[in-house]
Parts: sequence; C-alpha cells; structure tokens
Amino acid sequence: MTQEKLLELLGDMSLQEKVDQLLQLHEFFYTGNQEEVATGPAREMGITEEDITQAGSILGSYGAKKLKKLQDDYMAKQPHHIPMLFMMDVIHGMKTIFPAPIAQGAAFDPKIGKMAADIAAREAAVTGLHVTFSPMVDLVRDARWGRVVESTGEDPYLNAEYAKAIVEGFQGENNDLTEKFKIASCIKHFAGYGGAEAGRDYNTVEMSRPAFREYYLKSYKAGIDAGAALVMTSFNTVEGVPASVNKWLMRDILRKDFGFDGVLISDYAAIEESIYHGVSEDKRDAAKKGIEAGVDIDMMTGCYAANLAKLVEDGEVDEKLVDEAVLRVLELKNKLGLFENPYKDADEKLEKEMILSMPHRIAAREAAARTFVLLKNETDDGGFKYLPLKEGKKTAFVGPFVESQSIMSAWAVTGDEDSCVSVAQALRETFGSKYLYAKGCEILGDDVKIPGFRGMVHYPSTPEETEKLYVEAENVAKDAEQVVLFLGEDTTETGEAASKGFIELPEVQQELLRRVHKVNDNIIVVLFTGRPLDLREVSELSKSILVVWRPGTEGGHAIVDVLTGKRGPCGKLPMSFPYCVGQVPVHYDSLVTGRPAEPGTTEKFKSRYLDIPNEPLYPFGFGLTYTTIAMSDVKLDKSEMTADGKITATVTVKNLGDVVGVETPQLYIHDVKASIARPAKQLKGFEKVELMPGNAFDVKFEITKDMLTFVDGEGNEVLEKGEFEVFVGFDSATTNKASFVLK
Ligand code: GLC
Repeated sequence: MTQEKLLELLGDMSLQEKVDQLLQLHEFFYTGNQEEVATGPAREMGITEEDITQAGSILGSYGAKKLKKLQDDYMAKQPHHIPMLFMMDVIHGMKTIFPAPIAQGAAFDPKIGKMAADIAAREAAVTGLHVTFSPMVDLVRDARWGRVVESTGEDPYLNAEYAKAIVEGFQGENNDLTEKFKIASCIKHFAGYGGAEAGRDYNTVEMSRPAFREYYLKSYKAGIDAGAALVMTSFNTVEGVPASVNKWLMRDILRKDFGFDGVLISDYAAIEESIYHGVSEDKRDAAKKGIEAGVDIDMMTGCYAANLAKLVEDGEVDEKLVDEAVLRVLELKNKLGLFENPYKDADEKLEKEMILSMPHRIAAREAAARTFVLLKNETDDGGFKYLPLKEGKKTAFVGPFVESQSIMSAWAVTGDEDSCVSVAQALRETFGSKYLYAKGCEILGDDVKIPGFRGMVHYPSTPEETEKLYVEAENVAKDAEQVVLFLGEDTTETGEAASKGFIELPEVQQELLRRVHKVNDNIIVVLFTGRPLDLREVSELSKSILVVWRPGTEGGHAIVDVLTGKRGPCGKLPMSFPYCVGQVPVHYDSLVTGRPAEPGTTEKFKSRYLDIPNEPLYPFGFGLTYTTIAMSDVKLDKSEMTADGKITATVTVKNLGDVVGVETPQLYIHDVKASIARPAKQLKGFEKVELMPGNAFDVKFEITKDMLTFVDGEGNEVLEKGEFEVFVGFDSATTNKASFVLK
C-alpha cells in the first residue's frame, strides 16, 4: 500500500479504532470465552469487550493454522479490515533452539548470531509470526542478574557487532520485510536495563550520562542503524523516570539522536507500572505520559485502550500524538506486506518440513560447539591433556546434566525440551550404551520448588535419595580412571525474574563434586550455566573446565563432539567470571582510578580489597584451545598518527601444538589521558584465526580515529590528541602493549 493510501486509511478511522491499533493483548484474550475473558483479567485492566476483538496485535501465539484463522476472524470484524500483527519472543530459536545469546557472544563471531537469527526467522515465519522481541542488546556486568543469559555480554563493541548481525539475520540485509521467511526484529530493552542496581531484576538504574552513552547505548544504536523495525522500552527508571514514560529518553535520544522512526512498544505492562514507580497518578495519567513519551503500543494493560480516546476528547492529549503512533503501526504492517498478504509466510506444509529440519539441527550443533569456553585443561600423569578425552582411558560420566534435556534457556519459550539431544543420547551414539554413568544428584537438591516460566518446578528428592545418588556416583568414580562431571544451573535460574544473591553452583552439586573428588581427583567439569558463576571450588577440585552455557537443541551432540576432539573449543568469555559475588559488578573496561593496585601487590592505600583480589577468576575474552598458540609482541607501523590517518598493529600467531586450533586475537585501546577518565582497556577489534599445526600467521588491526573517540554526556563523539596504548592478546588481561601519539 502506498504512504498516501495509508494516510487516507488513517484519516478514515474512528478515534477508538485508532486506539485499538495501539493495544497488544495475549492470545488468551482472543481464544478464551469472550464473556469469561471480558470479566476476567481484561475487565481489571479496564479493557472493554470491543477492545478484545479489535486490538492491533497479539503477543505469544503461533501456528500457521491457528494464526490464519485468528487473522480471518479479526479482519472480518475490523471496520477497515486492517490485518493484525503476531509477535513473540523468539530469542535464540523458534523450535530449533540455538545456544543462548550469552553463549553466542562467547563465539566472538557475529556470523553465528546472524545464522541463528536467520534460521529462527524461517521457522517463526512459517508458523505465522511477523515480529520477534529479539535481540536483547542490554550491556550486562552483574552476574547476579538472571537476564545476562539473554545478552552477549559486558562489552559495548562486541554487543554492537552482535546487535547488527542478529537484526540482519531476522530482517535480511536489505530490510525488506516482505521477503520470504524474514520477520521484524525488536531490539530491547531501551534503555540501560542491564544496569539494575545489585543485579536485582526490575531494580533502579543510576548512572552518569557519559557512562550511559559510552557503554549502554551503543548496542541499541547499532541495532537501529541495522534497521530494527521495533524497539521495546525497559522496566527501569532512567534518571528517576520510568523508561516507558520518559520523554527525554524516547523522544530526545531514541527518536531525535538515533533517528529511530519505527514502532516503540512498551515492555509487558510497563506503562501501567509507571503508577507503581510512583510517577503516574492512575491508568489515565499513565496513558497520557506514555503517548507523550512516544510509546506506540501498550503491551498487555488497558491504559491506552480504556483512556486514550477520552484523553483526546477531553482535550488533554492532542489527537496528532495518537495519529503518529497509529501511522507507525500501520507502516510496520505495510512493510511486512500484510495489507496484500495478511498471512505473510504462514504455511502448514512448510511448518512441518522446516521446523527442526536436519540442516537446522546441524547448524545448531556447529554453532553450539563454537560457543564453548575451555577455562582450564591440565596435563595428566601420562603427559596428556585431560581434554580431549583419550580413547582407552576408562571414563565415568556423572551428574544431573548427563540425562537432562533441560539444556535451553528459560527464554526458549517456543522450544520443546523433548527435542533436545541430551549428553546421554550423544554418548550412546558415540560409545554405545556401555558407558559408566551415575546421576549423582538432582540439579537443585532435596524437595526444592522454584518458579519457572511455565509454572512451579519441583525437585521432590529426599536427603535419603540424594545420599543414595552420591554413593552410586562414588562407586562409579572409583571404578574409572577419570570422571567427567556434568553440572550447572537449573533452567529456571536463568532469564527474567531470576536474580540470585549467591552465584556458586547449587550446594547439592558442589557436594557431589567434593564426594567424587575424594575417591577420584581426575575430574573434568562440563558446566551448563546462563551466567558467570563463582568457580573457585570447581576450579580447585577439577583438572579441566568446559563452559557449555545453555547449548540448546543440539547441545548433547556438540558437547560430545568437543569432549572427543571432533571439534576444538574456541569460545572466549563475553563476560568476566568473578572471583566471588563480592567482586560484582566486575568488568574488564573499568577506569584506572587514582590509586590503581598492581595485580599481586599488597600496598595498603590502593584501590583494592582486604580479602579478595581485584582480578576476576577468569577475565573477559579468555578461553583456551586444544593446542598452544603463541603470539609475538605487538608492532605498530608508526609511532604517531593524525585524525585522518591510521596505524597498523601487527602480531604473529603460531600454532606450536600438533592439532588444529582456532584462536581469537583481540585488540584493546587505552586513551592514556583525556578530559574524562578513560577505561584501562576497550575492545576495538577481534579476529578468529584457524591455524594448522606449525602454521604461523600475521594478524593485522587497522587503528583509525573512530577507535579513539569517546562519547560525552550529550552524545557528542569526542577525539582528543595525546598518547594511546595498544594491547593485543588472547584475552583482556594481556600486557602485550605498544604506544602511539595522536597528533
Ligand atoms: C517480558 C520481557 C520482555 C519480553 C516481553 C514479552 O516481561 O521483559 O523481554 O519480550 O515481556 O514477552
């Protein structure tokens, strides 16, 4: 439809019809009994019966047959037969679930994010979906926050690279949303949600404007520049004003500074929650503040539906504000081609053929193997590394994650655990059914009840049953030369509303590790986690640690591929693993301070703790391979440059081992002196390098001025002359340094 026709349509719509386009309800409002629903949650939300059948979009429903029928019924009743939008959280896969975003970030390879999003879009599109609430691009530094599982980590540059890649994966590089098997991407949560105080979900966010701009806003800008069709507001306040009613954040930064002209949707009930924040008087006031802030769609509350028309009629809200919001929603529907083809790609036949197809499974298996991070890998008495597993060495496979298919993340809301490949299934395919196994314990211990996305999860085991499992594990461990222990967090401990004050493994699993270690100290730990954990005891009691995050549908296959050496680990930490929770938030790009403490020194009046080190247990960017790759000193081709010039930093990397290895040289820059204090290091480049045994390769990074600027509190890019330090290494703790002067 042409823009002119859209404007004509808008001009022909009644005020209430416009308002209904700004309402998003969950599917049960449509498929439940109208009477019951109209008197149920809808009524409390102030939503009237006609609203229920007229809302402009649905949250949380999928299935080609179902959505075609919903669309038909809706359009038949809609006065102008405007099609509705179907939106869903397709975070890291639709039915073929890819590794969680924190894992994808660990690949240090945005192409993995793009591929995962492309395949997710294909599977989502044939089920009839039009929009996904992904990628979540919030920068995260606090391992206590459960939603770190949905992010790509603590670095603005890495997050921005992934934000761009994932948006392109969902929408296509031309951003032609009428293209087959493409869906609209909604980046979230704008803005600064990952900075929640004390890592407690939905908590207050307080930070300086330079930090906000420099660290937290970059990835949203990258997603918007990549063409993201929607942005979602965040639950938190920004400078004391809830994001969903924050005019400065939404109109000055998002719309004006970032030039975003797509649809802005609130997070779930976030407009109404401005009442509970103590900023809006009531739902009417919340609706007024929300539309004035430029929020187009009110997700799952009756604020807009029950109040906006009245606010306009009472002269308190200019109808132009409603018109601009409705026009953006109509434009999105038009970009998706829904006026011509309301079903878009919904297709029952393709649904069966494409979902969980073998090519998709293979892609998920390959992707997962590239996200795993090898944190330690000692050498056994025979001079062999513990990993990859040596043939002929009697190995026991122990732990609650051997048989578990619960290896996605809590946000894999459309995924099915029974389609996940467990480690056990992959072991049987590799070693036959004859392998030493013991469960060891439940994931969370005795009689534990924990709220999950799909309701309460209960682990009913008793102390007696746990003791029995421990003894079985000890007996199996005694009988083996080495033990691979599969441990980790429960799925319900990841994602939204899953903040934790302690970040060790569940105690029942720590105890299993101790019990096994007593009878056999040749332990390799495979760790399923959605967040950095305090691994001090795990590291002390194990010879090797492989972090596999939440690996998704093909997790079991990918894990056995890496354990057996069919694939080599090449992941790097996208988030620091703290020494303990007392160190949190800990991030590699912190400021130097006026009293920097040199690692390993104990001078008192320095910025340090009395009882723990400043350094994390495992730093950002860290990860081992199965071989040994050396790096030369970094060389610069010049010692100074001007703003329009460039400097090339070169290192030579060489594979000293006897197996192939994939390493990730990383470029960090430090602005030694500037008008505001600058981080000790900032990631400005990385490259995946695959080296055959004995192979050497020169890795070159071109340093240009955009790597040297910083953003001030008003959003201006600032470039200041002076000395810059260049670091190149295999992780952020590298001291391989050279300097130059910007003239
Ligand atoms: C949730 C989440 C958001 C999600 C939305 C819709 O509360 O904060 O990430 O997209 O609701 O499910």
